[in-house]
Amino acid sequence: MTKIIETSNENETMAAGEDLAIEILNLKSDKSVVVFLEGELGAGKTTFTKGMLKGFDYNELVKSPTYNLVEIHQTKTHRIFHFDLYRISEPIELEEIGIDEYLNELKSVTIIEWPKNGEAVLPSPDFHVHISYKASNSKRELQIS
Ligand SMILES: Nc1ncnc2c1ncn2[C@@H]1O[C@H](COP(=O)(O)OP(=O)(O)O)[C@@H](O)[C@H]1O
Ligand SMILES: [Mg+2]
Repeated sequence: MTKIIETSNENETMAAGEDLAIEILNLKSDKSVVVFLEGELGAGKTTFTKGMLKGFDYNELVKSPTYNLVEIHQTKTHRIFHFDLYRISEPIELEEIGIDEYLNELKSVTIIEWPKNGEAVLPSPDFHVHISYKASNSKRELQIS
């Protein structure tokens, strides 16, 4: 099932992220959840992630993990691993940092920007979000499946 949402600004993209977080919370499952975020640079992947964290009732500063590869946030219910694989050139780099340990942790959500760069070592995601630019500067289309 694919849901298509059009957003006109940053806040609407955050709200879509918040909704996905609530959907994950409503699963009431301890199993780890994997979310792939695709879309060009500046599409809104990190913005969407910030919305997800808000949905998990996490209100601290969320910065982009571009330089650290992963940022870890402990929310009231889950540990959130936010990866940005933009700078990864070989998927083996992910094995070296022990990606499997992140992916196998109970009560965790792993959110991955640029998942294609790690495709060879990543499982298929539970949720797949693709954000694309629409004609005007601030319009985006989100496909969530
Ligand atoms: N509809 C929209 N949804 C998300 N971001 C938007 C939108 N319109 C404008 N923006 C801007 O686009 C940028 C998205 O940045 P970011 O979320 O870091 O992108 P990415 O992580 O995909 O590279 C932000 O500066 C944000 O304010
Ligand atoms: Mg980003």
